[in-house]
Amino acid sequence: MRRKFVAGNWKMNTTFQSAQALAREVASAVAASNPAVDVAVCPPAPFLWSVKQILAGSPVLLGGQNAYFEKSGAFTGETSLDMLLDVGCEWVILGHSERRQFFGDTDAIINKKVAAAIAQKLGIMFCVGEVLEDRQANRTEAVLTTQLEGGLAGFTSAQLSKLVIAYEPVWAIGTGVTASPEQAESAHAFIRDWMASRFDAKLAAELRIQYGGSVKPENAKEILSKPNVDGALVGGASLKSDQFMGIVNAAAELSR
Ligand code: 13P
Repeated sequence: MRRKFVAGNWKMNTTFQSAQALAREVASAVAASNPAVDVAVCPPAPFLWSVKQILAGSPVLLGGQNAYFEKSGAFTGETSLDMLLDVGCEWVILGHSERRQFFGDTDAIINKKVAAAIAQKLGIMFCVGEVLEDRQANRTEAVLTTQLEGGLAGFTSAQLSKLVIAYEPVWAIGTGVTASPEQAESAHAFIRDWMASRFDAKLAAELRIQYGGSVKPENAKEILSKPNVDGALVGGASLKSDQFMGIVNAAAELSR
């Protein structure tokens, strides 16, 4: 059985103080309930190190929200994967729709970032998802295919053992509109089938596919109970520890 994985993407939110407070709350709640799921938080880059100190000794994992594929050099404003590793990250989110939309991350750039993260042995949450226009025009599977083909071009299944895919329909991100459990399940099943035909059945069967887009404690159980939904990548609701833990606990209940 695939172990469920709930990650909080804090995006460009929190302050130095509030990030520490949030991390402390999540770490102590996870210690208290000891859920049978993987839990990660992905704070803004400047707060990674201080959050790592708070998570020391806790099973809560740390992830970066993005990274550049070059190892070092004159790339003003960028963070390398080495730097993420250096401050204790186990995970990195790559290909988030906000990176694609606002910062020019193309499938080709994301592919280089995935390659660099594989080389560093970091876990990767690779995000894919269609915009509303594509869904309305019945192009969801075509868009997912393009993003999967582009982002994962050139790898072997052995290289993708630490890959998680996050299906995040763009129209459901930060909008309060969630994909219905059936819509999520259908996209996740499509992604798993695609991975089986492009790579192999074993990789596809073991691959964890998170859903992201307005996940809240109120809707988490219904979405997470779908057979191909293996976790959640949570934005807004990850900024309040009680809401985030509501989602973690929903995943844990389904894992009993
Ligand atoms: P929301 O949960 O705020 O919709 O964000 C989802 C997301 O983009 C997680 O990466």
